[in-house]
Amino acid sequence: MFKDAESLTFVDIHCLILILSEIILKKIIETKRLFLRELVKSDKEELAKILTDPESMKYYPAPFSYKKVEDWIKWNIDNYNKYNHGLWAVILKEGNVFLGDCGITMQNIDGEQLPELGYHIKKEYCNKGFATEAAKACMEYAFGTLDFPVLYIYTKHDNKPSFRVAEKIGMKFVKYFDKEVMSEKVKEILYCKHR
Ligand SMILES: CC(C)(COP(=O)(O)OP(=O)(O)OC[C@H]1O[C@@H](n2cnc3c(N)ncnc32)[C@H](O)[C@@H]1OP(=O)(O)O)[C@@H](O)C(=O)NCCC(=O)NCCS
Repeated sequence: MFKDAESLTFVDIHCLILILSEIILKKIIETKRLFLRELVKSDKEELAKILTDPESMKYYPAPFSYKKVEDWIKWNIDNYNKYNHGLWAVILKEGNVFLGDCGITMQNIDGEQLPELGYHIKKEYCNKGFATEAAKACMEYAFGTLDFPVLYIYTKHDNKPSFRVAEKIGMKFVKYFDKEVMSEKVKEILYCKHR
């Protein structure tokens, strides 16, 4: 029934890698095209392709440094342990492609600690509905599994791709507010949805 190591084909090895990676990498959510799993330190290179990219980060005061990408992953691993949620890796099932991150973190929103949905998708995969698909699944997870009565999204007031995702998953405009981001005062737009 079992093959010895020398008779394993490329396909056998590929299947084994997929099975092992599913066991080792903690899968949280599955959708039609995607799965979301916990971020791990070795995601740094792939995540850096978004977070250090000036075009992807044009609504942030500045793109991240590599050190900041490392800290971002560490912050999310701490979030999983502390809150049972954080930003997760978004993986395209077809080809096992790392697309970005999406998930729920606790954020200071206009002076209150509130659960917020966030996302970053590699620019070459944008406008294919991936952020919307991942965000909708995270919202269902927030209301169902995590039992939050309300969920928020905030983004820079002119980040239309980001707040379009909020609108497309059924969130409603709440207000504009000012936030200090990387020592800069930024006008943010806030959306929310109640369970
Ligand atoms: C925000 C982001 C995650 C959206 O990802 P995505 O996978 O492209 O999102 P979707 O395809 O699900 O939806 C994008 C929507 O924005 C719209 N959009 C994209 N670019 C736009 C632009 N320049 N102006 C207006 N609308 C735009 C799309 O048309 C689409 O809306 P539609 O379905 O009504 O046509 C992605 O743009 C991103 O990673 N941006 C950089 C990081 C970022 O700013 N994250 C948010 C931080 S708060």
